[in-house]
Amino acid sequence: MRHLLGIAGWRRDELEALLDRAQEHLPGGPEASHVLRGQVVANLFFEDSTRTRSSFEVAARRLGADVLNWSFVGSSVSKGETLLDTARNIEALGPAIIIIRHRSSGAPHLVARHVKCAVVNAGDGAHEHPSQALLDAFTLRQRWGSLDGRTVLIVGDVLHSRVARSNLVCLKALGARVVLCGPPTLLPPGLEEMGGEVTHRLDAVLPQADAVMCLRLQTERMAEAFLPSQREYSRLFGLTPARVERMKPDAPVLHPGPINRGVELSPAVADGPRSVILEQVANGVAVRRAILERCAS
Ligand code: CP
Repeated sequence: MRHLLGIAGWRRDELEALLDRAQEHLPGGPEASHVLRGQVVANLFFEDSTRTRSSFEVAARRLGADVLNWSFVGSSVSKGETLLDTARNIEALGPAIIIIRHRSSGAPHLVARHVKCAVVNAGDGAHEHPSQALLDAFTLRQRWGSLDGRTVLIVGDVLHSRVARSNLVCLKALGARVVLCGPPTLLPPGLEEMGGEVTHRLDAVLPQADAVMCLRLQTERMAEAFLPSQREYSRLFGLTPARVERMKPDAPVLHPGPINRGVELSPAVADGPRSVILEQVANGVAVRRAILERCAS
């Protein structure tokens, strides 16, 4: 089964083939593929989403699929239904692909072992968010052609970030240098073993970056006090217009969304000329079309 559960384990040529295919799915590309015509794609989101769920829905419809949008709000989860029972009942409705987001790391992997259709991980806990990493790499490749030798600086709450983990693996596999920056409490151990470089000094490292990816402070996942205050975090690690001045002239600013405006990113930067945040969202549809097509093949 052609699941997409994570980026870990993908070879560079496999990643590049998927990104090449996504290029053909951009508006104005070759004739649309309707590889999922007459099939159902099920969105199973146990956590909220604006971008990922709607992007997968648009991508699936463009490939000819009918989309079943299941949400934990209003579902029988409130009556005690388990993850596997929910997944098996959705599977009984006949989807070709189940796309799942869950607060627990490994939930999509568990579902994949118990259903017969393809499973796509749309974000599991603080583990992986593979489609986000692929669309981020796609957006950078669109600007640069190749990621070889480029330095991507990832700033913020790496500890709770599935986006950071998938991006570290993906960007390294595509030839980039990845530097992770944040307060010590929000940088987990093991990043160097995954090929990343770690620093706590944002102002020192900014001039080296070919791109800066800001991460959201995930306060909903913070059971303990990881920071003195958001104001202190913003002072030390927030990307402001003054800090953008320290970056290379053409270095873009990325953010997976949703943004805490004024915390990890000031509004002037989020909406400014360096920001490619909405390009990331637009590219997400093409990348997710390539992902669903691969699952269906
Ligand atoms: N980037 C991302 O996963 O956004 P959503 O939570 O809105 O899907």
